[in-house]
Amino acid sequence: MVIVPRHARVWDAPTRTFHWALAAAFAGDWFTRDARYLDIHEFFGYAIGALVAFRYAWGLVGTRWARFASFPLSARSAWRYLVSLARGRQPHHVGHNPAGSWAIHALLAMALLEVATGVVTLGAEKGEGLLAGRFGYPVGDVAHAIHQWLAYGMLGVVALHIVGVLVGCFADRQNLIASMLTGYKPTDDAIADVDAKRGIAVAMTLALAVGALAYFRGYLPATGTQPYRPYASRALPMDAVWKTECSGCHLAYHPSLLPARSWSRMFAEQEAHFGEDLGLGGETLRHLEAFSASNAAEALESPVAWKMATTIPAASAPLRITATPYWVQRHERLDAATWERVHRLECEGCHRDADGGEFAPGAIDMELGKSAVRKGK
Ligand code: HEC
Ligand code: HEC
Repeated sequence: MVIVPRHARVWDAPTRTFHWALAAAFAGDWFTRDARYLDIHEFFGYAIGALVAFRYAWGLVGTRWARFASFPLSARSAWRYLVSLARGRQPHHVGHNPAGSWAIHALLAMALLEVATGVVTLGAEKGEGLLAGRFGYPVGDVAHAIHQWLAYGMLGVVALHIVGVLVGCFADRQNLIASMLTGYKPTDDAIADVDAKRGIAVAMTLALAVGALAYFRGYLPATGTQPYRPYASRALPMDAVWKTECSGCHLAYHPSLLPARSWSRMFAEQEAHFGEDLGLGGETLRHLEAFSASNAAEALESPVAWKMATTIPAASAPLRITATPYWVQRHERLDAATWERVHRLECEGCHRDADGGEFAPGAIDMELGKSAVRKGK
């Protein structure tokens, strides 16, 4: 006699839709983490926020195996399950097993925190989004760091989850991946099929599609040949005299790249400026001093200005931007061949917004220097 295993619908359609949409949105966010894809990255972030909010609600009011009550967080049962698994005598679980429930709860909580820190970072560093202008750079910086580390953490938990699923597939001789697609699991238990709730799944899919259409309306025509909007930096205040006097030999470095004490020292020693006499005096000198003082690192609002103002030791007044701890730290990963190609003082050879002074991560373009002709130095 052949025993035909019974199949029962365990996962309702909204849970399955949630699962694969979250996986897709997470992958989407991972591959658009480079700042120039920020627009697309944001969309996936909002999608994750909406999906996770849905899942928390569904965990309360959804069908039997989707409800949190069916997979409580218990360290002891998770441990017992893992031990029995190691002995090859694990009990069969219709819904999530006690170890899997940890991965799910961890991923939901981390995803929520990831979205929250993303919104804070966006509001603080770019002045955009739901929390535009609510926080300053210090908060944005912390949120950004958490956002980045948490993403690696989530990747780790996703990896554990996948390993867990594969182990489950072999240990229980069942295709768990297929069951998350079809909703059905083979089971000997006399359990009833859960309601498919297809209407809700269709509504979710429609909401995501409409959201995407609304968000990206007019996007492709506006971005022309590339699938992303080139990062638009904010040009910081510039001064015509500064531009003329300081761009003769190199880029007119924006005054927000050094603190005011560095600039006053530079102007005090202007007749011996790295071996050159700048020959400044009178009204011009006073004008340049005033402009640099009121637009120095500690005076201006920009992420780089803030970084420079807070990382240069108060006791020092460096004359070189390239000798500041922050500059050194941000460029230490570039190799000798790159510096051979573009001189380190030709910021404009790699930073599209070097002129404007913002030095946004999204405006870094390592191809720029390839075409640039070295200026006489
Ligand atoms: C006559 C040429 C000349 C002019 C004009 C000039 N500089 Fe320079 N500047 C130099 C040279 C040379 C260096 C050193 C370059 C090197 O290290 O290869 C330098 C270096 C610098 C650096 C340090 C760059 C770094 O991070 O290593 C700063 C900052 C700077 N200049 C600011 C200014 C400002 C502000 C003005 C305008 C008031 C100005 N320079 C005008 C020649 C000039
Ligand atoms: C050879 C290419 C190159 C040159 C030249 C260069 N940079 Fe960069 N810079 C980079 C790269 C690449 C990064 C990003 C490094 C990373 O993310 O790890 C960077 C990062 C930065 C950052 C940090 C941006 C952020 O918010 O993360 C600042 C500020 C910066 N550069 C300023 C300058 C200044 C000022 C100069 C000129 C004195 C300069 N850079 C010259 C390639 C260059």
